This record gives sequence, structure tokens and C-alpha cells, in this order.
Amino acid sequence: MWQEGRRRKTWQSKTSADWNKRSAGFAKRHKDSVFVKEFLKRLPLSPAMTVLDMGCGPGTLTIPLSRKVREVTAVDFSSGMLAILAERAAKDGLDNITTRQGAWEDNWHTLGVGQYDLIIASRSLAVDDLKGALHKLRRAARGWVFIGDRVGSGPFDPAMFAAIGRPFDPGPYYIYTINILYQMGIYARLDFIDLPASRSYKTQEEAISSWSWMFNDLTAAENDKLNHHLSERLARNKKGYWYLRDEHCPSWAIISWREKT
Ligand SMILES: C[S@@+](CC[C@H](N)C(=O)[O-])C[C@H]1O[C@@H](n2cnc3c(N)ncnc32)[C@H](O)[C@@H]1O
Repeated sequence: MWQEGRRRKTWQSKTSADWNKRSAGFAKRHKDSVFVKEFLKRLPLSPAMTVLDMGCGPGTLTIPLSRKVREVTAVDFSSGMLAILAERAAKDGLDNITTRQGAWEDNWHTLGVGQYDLIIASRSLAVDDLKGALHKLRRAARGWVFIGDRVGSGPFDPAMFAAIGRPFDPGPYYIYTINILYQMGIYARLDFIDLPASRSYKTQEEAISSWSWMFNDLTAAENDKLNHHLSERLARNKKGYWYLRDEHCPSWAIISWREKT
């Protein structure tokens, strides 16, 4: 059912090259976000811990985590994301982060992924073989695993799909992960992070480019429709910043369980 749902979804899966292109924008949008604070708050951290951050992106969580634990291994298939992470770590003088360029689909043993006290996989579990990915997490875990998973449309704003005349099907999300874990004999815990409306922009152009990440294959006509839709929704606050009326605020499911050692 997960795989059928993935085939029906109307947003395009991103390749490592797509994520490379998005790395700088993503890094800027998500640094020090409410999501980061809320995710970190839920983790059972201790200074002696080793951590694996699978699908680490530009280090949104790796960087703050590395200040609280012994070492973090950060894995991502996007070289652009890993380059930003390495730059941030060097700037902050953090020397307990090891990066590995690799994918969920790779052989983790060959990648040099070992076993860790804590594993996180935040907003990165966009895979066709979900069961295989969960098996890999389980084999690498000798303690807690925390997954940040999509709820409903997730970060995608259905109104923007409607505006450009495309149907929207978000594909399968967290409830499948919970159920596949259940089939594996794991009664995972479930929590949610509900993000507040928070974004504001110096210019209309900045706002438009911050939302157009959702589509990587727009025709010129669709692009015009999206720009028109966004400009109608943009308003100015008292400080003169632009914000989007009815901003789409995603919730994230936080799924966790403890592997027995
Ligand atoms: C939405 S970002 C999340 C980054 C970070 N974990 C966070 O929560 O801010 C998704 C990340 O997963 C990575 N990713 C997506 N599919 C992947 C795959 N199949 N194997 C490895 N990394 C993948 C992307 O390159 C990207 O950096």
C-alpha cells in the first residue's frame, strides 16, 4: 500500500541533484527553526552518546546535537547539503561530526555506518522501500530511534497546487510507518510537532522564491499562475515585512522506539 501510494503522489521525488540545488535555500529557511527546538527537546540526550543523523541535510539538527553528545555521524546523499554542514561545523569549531555521502538505498555497511546509541531520521524518509529503510535503522540502533515523518500534505501547500491547476495527492505518510513498525513487532510512540505561522520576508521576490521549492518542473504558464497566486496572498505586517496570508503550517509526526540491546 505504501508503494502504491508513492506511485499516486502528485509531487515529484527529489534526486540528490535536486537537493543539491536546494541546499542553500533549505539551510537558510530551517536554521534555528521552531521545528529544531521542538525535535531536540524530545530526544533523550547524554554527553557520552554516539548519534547517527540519517538524511542530515545541511546539519539542521546535527550541528546543535553535536554540542550535546560525544559524536555525530551525519549521512546524506546530497553533496551540496554535506558541504554546507561541513562549512558550518568548521565555522563553529565542532570536531565531533563525521559525514558520509550515502543513501537510504545504499549498503550501510559499505558506507561505514555502524551502531549508535541514538538514531534520528528527520524529514528524510522519502523512500520507496520503507520496510527496508526501517530494517536498516533497526540494525544500526542500540538504543532510541526518532523519526520525523510527514503528516498529510506535510510542507506542501495544497492551495498552491490548486492555483497552478495541478491535482494534489500527498502520497502515504506517517501512519504507514507506524503500521509497518507494528508489523515488525514494535509499538512505537507517537507525538506531533505543530509548526506555527512564522515566516516573513524582506521582499516579495524573497517570499516567492521561498515557496516555489515545492515544484521543480514548472512550465512558464504555471510559473506565472504561481506568482500571481502568491502575490495575491502576500501582505505586509506592521514592521514592513511581507508574510503569506493563510500560511500553510505543517505538522510533523515524531515516531520513536527503543531497540533492545
Ligand atoms: C527535508 S531535508 C531534511 C534535513 C534534516 N534532516 C532536517 O530535518 O532539517 C531531507 C534530506 O534528506 C536527504 N535525502 C532525501 N532522500 C534521501 C535518500 N534516499 N538517501 C539519503 N538522503 C536522502 C536530502 O538530501 C535532504 O538533505
